[in-house]
Amino acid sequence: EGVEGRSPLRVVLANPRGFCAGVERAIETVERALELYGAPVYVRHEIVHNRRVCDDLRQKGAIFVEDLDDVPTGAITIFSAHGVARRVEDEAERRGLDIIDATCPLVAKVHAEGRRYAEAGYQVILIGHAGHPEVVGTLGQIPAEVHVVADVTGVDALPFEPDEQVAYVTQTTLSVVDTRGIVAAILRRWPGAQGQDTRDICYATQNRQQAVIDISGRVDLVLVVGAPNSSNSNRLVEIARAQGVAAYLVPTPEALDPAWLDGVGAVGISAGASAPEVLVQETLGRLAEFRHVVVEAASGVREDVVFRLPRELDAARPRMT
Ligand code: F3S
Repeated sequence: EGVEGRSPLRVVLANPRGFCAGVERAIETVERALELYGAPVYVRHEIVHNRRVCDDLRQKGAIFVEDLDDVPTGAITIFSAHGVARRVEDEAERRGLDIIDATCPLVAKVHAEGRRYAEAGYQVILIGHAGHPEVVGTLGQIPAEVHVVADVTGVDALPFEPDEQVAYVTQTTLSVVDTRGIVAAILRRWPGAQGQDTRDICYATQNRQQAVIDISGRVDLVLVVGAPNSSNSNRLVEIARAQGVAAYLVPTPEALDPAWLDGVGAVGISAGASAPEVLVQETLGRLAEFRHVVVEAASGVREDVVFRLPRELDAARPRMT
């Protein structure tokens, strides 16, 4: 039986999906640095959590490292969109590295909030996933002991006294619904706790989650184009499932299992904030290998957020060697 003989597959594209302003800026930062200074430029950690993006930049002369020890003295070094701990900045300075900081401004804003709370003497809670690079960076930007909690059970286990001054900040890519529950649990134990409610979760995360909720009721299956280590992409899969629809992460088009399409009449597709649109288009191409595909775009909010490039690139001076 050929593709044409099978029932058509309706595809609804979530809107918005894919790149956010912080990711656009981070990628452009690497490209601009390569233009200005020539290859190689070093990037600490994946600039954004997507293999395709990093492979493209590697082709152009970027070298990705996990540790500053692997950067030669004096080299141009870019910090990824996820941000870094203070000790990484200090080490870069000590090593005399030429740093360009591509930390998303919305992550840097959370760093500043956390620092303010710590300096004002609050016990600081960070709601997020331990071990994620953004969480490691945020912890390392707050000059105090910070307690990481990922769920309500984590809040129950916090050691602070009832009369202690408590404040919280969050990772930028969390589920809004889950975070609301965790914040409520904090406020039950410490009614005066300070924090931004769910507003540390960035606009892009919030919009992509709402877009997935909007399409989930209209489809039998949701595919989220995104990497396994992409926090916001994984949250989109969970959010679709919480809406009662089957959902899978699709890191590459080949990862799409045709068995997922059995009995499916309509598929929703979204993409994490670090996933390039070309992977969405390739996923559509892959679907078309199995079924006759009819694509429609869902309506959604228009995003017009743009961040300026890091100030280190503003000057655009040739490098003094
Ligand atoms: Fe920044 Fe949010 Fe994107 S924190 S990097 S705008 S997902």
